[in-house]
Amino acid sequence: MTKRIGILTGGGDCPGLNAVIRAVVRRSIFFGGYEMVGIKYGWRGLVENETMPLKRENVTGILHRGGTILGTSRTNLYKGDEMKQKALANYKKMGLDALIALGGEDTLGVARRLYQEEKINVIGVPKTIDNDIIGTDFTFGFDTAVGIATEAVDRLHSTAESHDRVLVCEVMGRHAGWIATYAGLAGGADAVLIPEKPIDVDEVCRVIMNRKKQGVNFSIIVVAEGAKIKEAASEKEVLSSQKLDDFGHVMLGGIGQVLAKVIEEKTGFDTRVTVLGHIQRGGTPTAHDRILATRYGVAAMDAAHAGKFGVMVALRGNEIVTTPLAELAKGLKTVDDTFYEMTKTFWG
Ligand code: F6P
Repeated sequence: MTKRIGILTGGGDCPGLNAVIRAVVRRSIFFGGYEMVGIKYGWRGLVENETMPLKRENVTGILHRGGTILGTSRTNLYKGDEMKQKALANYKKMGLDALIALGGEDTLGVARRLYQEEKINVIGVPKTIDNDIIGTDFTFGFDTAVGIATEAVDRLHSTAESHDRVLVCEVMGRHAGWIATYAGLAGGADAVLIPEKPIDVDEVCRVIMNRKKQGVNFSIIVVAEGAKIKEAASEKEVLSSQKLDDFGHVMLGGIGQVLAKVIEEKTGFDTRVTVLGHIQRGGTPTAHDRILATRYGVAAMDAAHAGKFGVMVALRGNEIVTTPLAELAKGLKTVDDTFYEMTKTFWG
């Protein structure tokens, strides 16, 4: 008997989502006996019964494309009982035997509850440029975002040097400093500031002034959007808006400006800011992300085929494994101290 499996993409998009969708569908064709259903706009599509077929022809030519052919949203099924009930009714109406959810902490958090509380056959695939999902070494999308941020840091060097300026580059990553740490290290930034460690402005200014003493009149500072200044109003994050999303998340942004102002005041250097924003999420995935996404997609379909539910596919070393979705309850995966402290070797 043919089995029907739904696929959805939730939360912020990231490069590699289409590669996963393609891999899941191709693996299902490889096995035979499956009908794949695309659920549009994340959990919202389940609430509103919005679907699209996912046959071979629907996934042709999408491997290299950024974004998601399914669309996405930050809909939280658990925001109200009515939404959850509608979603459960539609899951039945769609005749689904299982659901593969591609998402970050929020989307996978809903997946975890659907499995634990409603006994829905769910498999999770960890996506996010932030790389902050516990249980996996890397999420797909991260490598692409780091590549884009690194290129930006590279480009900022020549203009900073020409003008004797300090250039602050604000990158995404929400409450985790992975993008900042990786791009800062890869791009040779003079300081990398992350949410995990409150910013010591004096330390940053010392780095800049030490460079000056050595005759180097420019510096590049990479700051993660979620980083907080130590002394400033009890280490509060800088927000771009007071709005919260469906999952209660704040909208970060603006720390670069705040920091630049203080640096300029304290060092006297003309200091400018570049905010990379959604450029880090758009466009074509790197080969590394395409391969990771493809391996995740295949592993997710393998898990469905084996009847292994309530799990997330994950990368451990170079192996793709499955890990219980329950593990997500432990919280986010943030940058560890040792790794961050090592980057200080290259400050200044
Ligand atoms: O989680 C991915 C991410 O890009 C974060 O780095 C960032 O804080 C957030 O999403 C931005 O969300 P939105 O696209 O809704 O503005």
